[in-house]
Amino acid sequence: MQLNKATNLACPLDGLPLTLNERQLRCAHGHSFDLARQGYVNLLPVQNKKSREPGDSGEMVEARRRFLDAGFYAPISATLNALTLPQLPVGDVCIVDAGCGEGYYLDNLGRALLSHGDGQAALIGLDIAKPAVIAAARRNRDITWLVASNSNPALLPASVDMILCMFGFPVYPAFAHMLKPGGKVLLVDAGPDHLLQLREIIYPEVRKSPPPALDKAEQSGFALIAEKTLRYDTPDLDRGAIADLLVMTPHLYRATRAGKEAAAQLERISLTVEVVFRVLEKTA
Ligand SMILES: C[S@@+](CC[C@H](N)C(=O)[O-])C[C@H]1O[C@@H](n2cnc3c(N)ncnc32)[C@H](O)[C@@H]1O
Repeated sequence: MQLNKATNLACPLDGLPLTLNERQLRCAHGHSFDLARQGYVNLLPVQNKKSREPGDSGEMVEARRRFLDAGFYAPISATLNALTLPQLPVGDVCIVDAGCGEGYYLDNLGRALLSHGDGQAALIGLDIAKPAVIAAARRNRDITWLVASNSNPALLPASVDMILCMFGFPVYPAFAHMLKPGGKVLLVDAGPDHLLQLREIIYPEVRKSPPPALDKAEQSGFALIAEKTLRYDTPDLDRGAIADLLVMTPHLYRATRAGKEAAAQLERISLTVEVVFRVLEKTA
């Protein structure tokens, strides 16, 4: 496949199609959005921001980038690719990574798509955090990177074949709106044993929670059509990787003071990764 820039962007203010003119996207009502020189577009209207800097901070983004580039989650990326490719329709496709973070998984998927099938693929990574999108744009200029929100993704209705939502915050009505009939959502969430050894160190009591329930997805017309659990043990994380992992997840903020001190003493640790992949289909 060949990677192409997306042509299904919509004005976040009125939903009209956006067309590219020089280095600006513009709708028929004259709302315009500049292409940033770093290779992304900000389609998050100021009035839709709930805080000045929504989403992950620059520090979290950099920690996640270092941790992912070290390869500890490479099997998650490989499983994502293996599950995504067979779900794609024949011909041209549009895939959205909703809450793409610093772009590791979508960039890897883009590379896998280059040797898959004959059509054209428009890949769109969107995240509410500007530092994440700037980091993502550095990874791959052939992908369309947007600062946007899952609740108002600024994409035309029924224009997307597949949405990836990895360790993220799905907004099912908005997902249903942008998906074509029969379109898919691939959810990736932590399983009960994910990072268990670290959680046992930083929390006095470990709760083994299943991945989030799907009742809201079902209410928006989605049905679960496939599920797979990936489980493996990582190679040893050193001090730097342990610190990065804590910064990139909510664990650091939830851990007790004693838990943080215990984690800071750790020299190395191997962790169980347990991740649940679920494929939902838009049926209504
Ligand atoms: C746990 S991180 C996961 C990032 C990436 N999917 C990954 O697995 O590496 C969650 C991401 O969702 C983003 N986020 C939070 N709320 C969001 C929203 N309403 N719309 C889009 N992205 C959001 C955060 O900025 C962050 O990058």
